[in-house]
Amino acid sequence: MMKIGLLTSGGDCQGLNAALRGVAKTLFKAVPYVELYGIQDGYRGLIECKWRKMKLKEFSGILREGGTILGTSKQPYRTKQDIDEHIDANTAAMIRNYQDERFEALIVLGGNKTQKTAFTLSRNGVNVVTLPKTIDNDLCGTDYTFGFDSAVTKAVEFLDAIHTTAAAHGRIFVIELMGNKAGWVTLYAGLAGSADVILVPEIPYSLGSVIGAINKRIQLGKGFSIIAIAEGAISREEAAMSTGNQEFEPEPGRASSGAKLVRMLGEKQNQDIRLLVPGHFQRGGAPTPHDRVLCLRMGAKAGELILRRQYGCMVALQGTSIGYVPLSDVAGKTKTIPPDSEVLEQARMLGISLGE
Ligand code: F6P
Repeated sequence: MMKIGLLTSGGDCQGLNAALRGVAKTLFKAVPYVELYGIQDGYRGLIECKWRKMKLKEFSGILREGGTILGTSKQPYRTKQDIDEHIDANTAAMIRNYQDERFEALIVLGGNKTQKTAFTLSRNGVNVVTLPKTIDNDLCGTDYTFGFDSAVTKAVEFLDAIHTTAAAHGRIFVIELMGNKAGWVTLYAGLAGSADVILVPEIPYSLGSVIGAINKRIQLGKGFSIIAIAEGAISREEAAMSTGNQEFEPEPGRASSGAKLVRMLGEKQNQDIRLLVPGHFQRGGAPTPHDRVLCLRMGAKAGELILRRQYGCMVALQGTSIGYVPLSDVAGKTKTIPPDSEVLEQARMLGISLGE
């Protein structure tokens, strides 16, 4: 008999439930050979022994539901010292609980930090299969993560709606989108939502260049401008002063990239400027059909890998196929937009300013 633990960890995104359904539908075919246990609130549930045996019917009607029926939690540590003090003890507790419960394997749905922890567990004898979840699309080893398409769709709703009011008032709108280290959501939403300026963390921006793009539009008789800025985007001056510490997420409530840009533009530009921060709206609500299909296919693949006892890997989208990659290819890496990205080049060809 195979006792499989299932958990969702890190920030939520659309499609987690769809992926859980894909896993469950596949694995329940092997009942009674397989038993599925839902671990509550991510790794915290594994540390605190909070899990329960699940029935197939619990995975019904959840395909289009946002959030996660298992709950989730994020790593609470923000400093290196915190990490040093807690990670080892937590890892030891997870391994001990996994062994005591006689789990055969864990299926873990998560983003960067989750994958890193999964790799640590895997190197310590825990059988793990992971799925690539994050709106940020910043996981290596997979062409796309699930949640990304849904977040872009949400962001585009904002960009589309803002166009009419921005045009009516001849205003500049700065729309700050999620993505601390990687600007995928901002780049794709900016393109799909017809932003005039797209600012991503990968390309520190020049304020002069942003103002130049706005003034060029004014000369063309377009009195309004839409700027899509990633929350992790910084100016060239900030980049020059940066310590380069990318390890931790910024504190909640920090001065946002959008607010900084609005302040700087306000000092130079004699025009009404407004800031819009859709925030967690981008992670909420139903997954898009594209994400639903991706999640179901990835969930089915995870089930298949478990039944084949193929462990230590992450399910991945490879072109149009669903495959898998070793966790060592994923853990501790971030997939940012490459400088030679075709999408960046095509944005430039379209006349969109990237603040360069
Ligand atoms: O990693 C996903 C993400 O949505 C980032 O884009 C964002 O910076 C962060 O999570 C926000 O996290 P929290 O849920 O802690 O506010």
